[in-house]
Amino acid sequence: MQTDAVVSGSLRNRLVLILIGGAAVLAIFLFFAVRSYAVQVAQRGQDNILLASVTSMLDAAAFRDGVAEVDIPYAAFSMLNTPADDRVFYAIYQDDTFLSGYNDLGLLGENQGGQPSFQTRDYRDTSVREVTASRTLIGADQRTEIQIALAQTQDALADTLDQISRNAALLGLGFFALAVALSIWATQATISPLSRLTNSVTRRGPQDLSPFTKPVPQEMAPLVTSLNSLMGRLDQSLSQSEDFIAEAAHRVRTPLATVRSYAEATLLRVNKEENREAMRSMVKAIDESSRAAGQLLDHAMITFRADHLEREELDLVDLVRDLILRLTPVADMKDLTLDLRGEDTVTYAGDPILLQNALRNMIDNAMKYSPADGAIEISVRSEPVVAVTVSDQGPGFPLDEIETLTARFTRGRNADNTIGSGLGLTIAQDVATAHGGEITLRNREEGGACVILSL
Ligand SMILES: Nc1ncnc2c1ncn2[C@@H]1O[C@H](COP(=O)(O)OP(=O)(O)O)[C@@H](O)[C@H]1O
Ligand SMILES: [Mg+2]
Repeated sequence: MQTDAVVSGSLRNRLVLILIGGAAVLAIFLFFAVRSYAVQVAQRGQDNILLASVTSMLDAAAFRDGVAEVDIPYAAFSMLNTPADDRVFYAIYQDDTFLSGYNDLGLLGENQGGQPSFQTRDYRDTSVREVTASRTLIGADQRTEIQIALAQTQDALADTLDQISRNAALLGLGFFALAVALSIWATQATISPLSRLTNSVTRRGPQDLSPFTKPVPQEMAPLVTSLNSLMGRLDQSLSQSEDFIAEAAHRVRTPLATVRSYAEATLLRVNKEENREAMRSMVKAIDESSRAAGQLLDHAMITFRADHLEREELDLVDLVRDLILRLTPVADMKDLTLDLRGEDTVTYAGDPILLQNALRNMIDNAMKYSPADGAIEISVRSEPVVAVTVSDQGPGFPLDEIETLTARFTRGRNADNTIGSGLGLTIAQDVATAHGGEITLRNREEGGACVILSL
């Protein structure tokens, strides 16, 4: 019985997704942070040049013959040269009256405390950075204020910004790629103890119920602890049932054998025919129940052992020969001969107790359902597959029932007068299945049943 686990998502995928998602958010944040910082720096650069330029213009302002004059020095404009040939606009005012330059440029609002003020705004359909600064000229008997507005388009700045954006994007992408690689690596490293545990569980043989002793990360310790305690309990209950089966077999068989021998002894001493008849039925009933109990316990033992098969190298011919030797007294009672045919040695790795049990049931059936004075043929071969065939000279299987005879507690129509519990073929089939083989029932052309245990 194997139940597949119900899968709900993947730990690895979940972890990778969370880490990559986090990395993506960080990369985007990094991109915007770098860009906005770079924009600030670039803007400050332009502001500084604008301020230097406007200051040098104001420095050139002076009274000449009692009139305020502003001679714009060449350097004031040349320092504003940019690779993108940004255009420059200016307007000069004296006490808020326009003197020269672009009269639509206008001064920026309040510039408190004589500090120059900066603003980015739209002018003539393009975005400009404008600075306004002023200076008070003091003459012999007058004082006047010169105000200058200086504006510059921002094409070079936009170019720089594009370049910075590109670089910031590259930086973000690089960071993201690195983070993805790290996430996958970290996930792998986190998951690997789990895979190692899974491996060591699956690699175990079915009999191996020893506790896990390899060190595991702290978070997995409770899992391993409960796994170990589960296996401990399993191991204990398995060996308990094994002991129980053996004990039960012993406790049932021994008293039944004793009762049977008493009954037989009594039978010899009883003279009255009706009492003898009663004693005979009693012996038969004892036989029946001891067989049934034996079969039931065998079946339990086989179900138990088949679950964790213990294979060992053995010679099947040897095993069969041994069995024949032990069954010969029973066969002799019915004048049956047990003939061993086939190869001399057939090596096979299997559970000897199970195989013996299966074969004993097959030979037992052959002896039970054959008429007296016949021969039972047992042959062992290794080609094309390892197989043991038991054939008899009896009436064979009832053909219409042949499919169901291996089922538990199922007996055939021809079994009416024989003792049995309907478990013999079930046991043989369970043993075959446990070894990866099968049981085949058929009737021989020359008459008689033929059961093949192929492994
Ligand atoms: N060698 C055989 N010849 C004829 N019938 C057989 C033979 N072996 C088994 N059978 C039939 O298969 C049935 C199931 O066999 P089995 O499982 O061993 O139970 P049981 O022998 O206790 O009846 C038997 O009841 C019998 O009808
Ligand atoms: Mg049987």
